[in-house]
Amino acid sequence: MQLVTCCSFKGGAGKTTALMGLCSALAADGKTIALFEADENRPLSKWKENATRRNAWDPLCEIFITDEVPLLEVAYEEAAGRGFDYCLVETHHGSSELNNTVFGDVTLFDQRP
Ligand SMILES: Nc1ncnc2c1ncn2[C@@H]1O[C@H](COP(=O)(O)OP(=O)(O)OP(=O)(O)O)[C@@H](O)[C@H]1O
Ligand SMILES: [Mg+2]
Repeated sequence: MQLVTCCSFKGGAGKTTALMGLCSALAADGKTIALFEADENRPLSKWKENATRRNAWDPLCEIFITDEVPLLEVAYEEAAGRGFDYCLVETHHGSSELNNTVFGDVTLFDQRP
């Protein structure tokens, strides 16, 4: 299972949008995706609510709530055990122990111009 995140210390840089664009492309390719919600504002859950309302949520994608470090470890073990192809991790902006844990584990997509 490959871990990927989009990160930025600045808010509103497009992290969520970029991550969900990648998610959509991977799902269209038939890949299974564990989406880790490590932003306490729960943008991925809102994304899913909107998509579900439009009957556009792909069941290949599943959200795990991981807004505390211990939840991150548990979710990673579950997702890896269930054989998900990708794990896309939604981070919040700024610096935190949670973000640092994610950044220590994943492949980073550098969004700097
Ligand atoms: N490539 C893009 N081109 C134009 N607008 C974009 C692009 N990506 C995102 N946006 C817009 O920028 C705004 C912020 O995007 P997004 O929520 O993805 O940022 P974020 O980095 O996740 O923010 P936050 O730090 O609050 O989590 C949204 O209104 C979104 O529609
Ligand atoms: Mg975001």
